[in-house]
Amino acid sequence: MEKGGLMRKVISVVGLGHVGLAVASGFALEGYTVIGIDNDKEKIKGISSGKSTVYEEGLDEAIKEVKIITTWDYKEILKSDVTFVCVATPSDSEGAINLRYIRESIEKIAKILKEKDDYHVIVIKSSVVPGTTEGVILPMLKKAGNFGLCVNPEFLRQGRALRDFLYPDRIIIGEYDKRSGDTIYDLYESFDCPILRTDLKTAEMIKYASNAFLATKVSFINEIGNICKKFGIDVYEVTKGMGYDKRIGDKFLNAGIGFGGPCLPKDLKALIAKSNEIEYEPRILEEVSRLNDEQPLRMIELLKKHTSLDGKTIGMLGLAFKPNTDGVSGSKAISIVEALLKEGARIKAYDPKAMPNFRKLFPQIEYTDREQVLRCDATLILTEWEEFNDLDYKGIVIDGRRITKARGARVYEGICW
Ligand code: UGA
Repeated sequence: MEKGGLMRKVISVVGLGHVGLAVASGFALEGYTVIGIDNDKEKIKGISSGKSTVYEEGLDEAIKEVKIITTWDYKEILKSDVTFVCVATPSDSEGAINLRYIRESIEKIAKILKEKDDYHVIVIKSSVVPGTTEGVILPMLKKAGNFGLCVNPEFLRQGRALRDFLYPDRIIIGEYDKRSGDTIYDLYESFDCPILRTDLKTAEMIKYASNAFLATKVSFINEIGNICKKFGIDVYEVTKGMGYDKRIGDKFLNAGIGFGGPCLPKDLKALIAKSNEIEYEPRILEEVSRLNDEQPLRMIELLKKHTSLDGKTIGMLGLAFKPNTDGVSGSKAISIVEALLKEGARIKAYDPKAMPNFRKLFPQIEYTDREQVLRCDATLILTEWEEFNDLDYKGIVIDGRRITKARGARVYEGICW
């Protein structure tokens, strides 16, 4: 696997969640020596025994194929030349990003790098709103001595993170100075995609603008879909017709119950909060977010057209925020369960991968198999898992994800079609 010559940089990655593990495995597959660091000792044990702790396509295989040196000891970064910071930036209650993990890790890195004379570049992969690296991280690193600093945002979809890392559409390098940027540019030299070099805050904004635009596409098509529903038009045929226009394209225009996940909703809210902080009211972004909060509740309205809810058992097919992941963070299934429970309904739910994670949020609902779910008083489809196209739908089905096979049910309603 080794590429290049003797001078190859050693890379350390701090934070081994979906992103960090994909970055670590990806660089290791590219032939780099990679040191992975995480506070969570269980996670470290798992990875060193060849098992990824997150459900990601290809990651288990990659971890077995390449050796990532794993440790919880931050001092190991001294053996590397470049450190990628991939820790989480969760939201606080107002939607702004919480920099606790960033501060903790930068504090440790800065302290350790004081012991090092050789040049060392810190790369911020975690999503941080514009101005954070310059305003918060840079001052903390000043005591580190001979350092460089870059922002290199990730555009990795959960479930496909490794593939997205290895075959990116673009790489963005926000640089503190030319030397920092040159160092990171060299790491990506063999990647076959455009590489754009910017200043630090532009790179931060590219990440937020990209996620906000994707979120806007989804809320836009959901709104068109809601209008289509009133006309009796299938929004999926409308998007097909729109998508032939190259200026519009056909990607990320699947109408449904809204966008979830750990990133799109959080990043949108963080950009709104930051804009408000600098005294700009981001009206489009606020409406995108509001529409997305309301969209799943349309499932309940449609359901009520066909059955009362109090004392009824409602089946839920799909709990993950999208297929091929066990992630439930920001899943629209959460607000649907809350609404159903409030209406006095009982719930039987099935998801091929996400039941253990969803059970942590809602231990009071019943987790079962697909057939049991289909036998409920009505069934809601909330995630477009491929296997849901193999089922024999019979009773009342309200479809939030356009599963073609479900159209055979006795009563079928699509959310936007
Ligand atoms: C998203 C971005 O796609 C990545 O580029 C980005 O790096 C990542 O966030 C991040 O910031 O880390 P992800 O959250 O994994 O990736 O999921 P997506 O595939 O983007 O889907 C997000 C949500 O939008 C899902 O709930 C999905 O069901 C929904 N969606 C997506 C739609 O409702 N319609 C669509 O047409 C597409």
